[in-house]
Amino acid sequence: MLVIGIAGGSGSGKTTVAHAVVNKLGDENVALISQDSYYADLSHLSPEQKQHINYDHPDSFDNHLLVQHLKSLREGQPIEVPTYDFSTHSRTNKTLHVPSKPVVVIEGILILAAPELRNQMDIKVFVDTDPDVRILRRVMRDINERGRTLESVHEQYLTTVKPMHEAFVEPSKRYADLIIPEGGQNEIAIDLLTSLIERYI
Ligand code: CTP
Repeated sequence: MLVIGIAGGSGSGKTTVAHAVVNKLGDENVALISQDSYYADLSHLSPEQKQHINYDHPDSFDNHLLVQHLKSLREGQPIEVPTYDFSTHSRTNKTLHVPSKPVVVIEGILILAAPELRNQMDIKVFVDTDPDVRILRRVMRDINERGRTLESVHEQYLTTVKPMHEAFVEPSKRYADLIIPEGGQNEIAIDLLTSLIERYI
């Protein structure tokens, strides 16, 4: 099994790159996992407390479970991926059954920041998109899909997203084997990445 990690800041286009890889290689060959599914469960907190959590710090994720899941997939075992609801900041009681496949793509803002996750990866990719493009995408997405207001996106961006990006996400770029400028729009980089993966499988 080959594990591809796709990191990059919020709104960089990681999901688009990951989906492009799945489309080109076929979903019978590729399992796609998002680090977002492994946000620690905070259902014990009040809605008010949950709004003020730093979701951009490496400690917000249950990386222990993610590493365990990657190991299970490597052993050919299926996994039950938690599902996360961004509007309530909680894990739901549903899980997604993911069988082991020849290629696993894991995408997330901080997957290259944690050594225990990096050690599980065969190819490390960083999607490098300008901050102005990322924040524009984030505003649209958080309002349209994650039940947020413009004011809350503004406050969260300045208090946690931007400082954590600078402290943890951007420095993790040094661990990438491949840096893709302007993520999802970069056809040539996506072709290169898929040909590289095809050579291994
Ligand atoms: N986040 C949030 N509320 C939560 C949990 C996470 O607002 N309860 C935010 C974090 O602030 C973090 C972002 O979710 O910055 C991570 O998702 P992001 O990388 O933006 O989304 P993807 O679709 O995975 O990536 P991309 O836009 O690059 O495709």
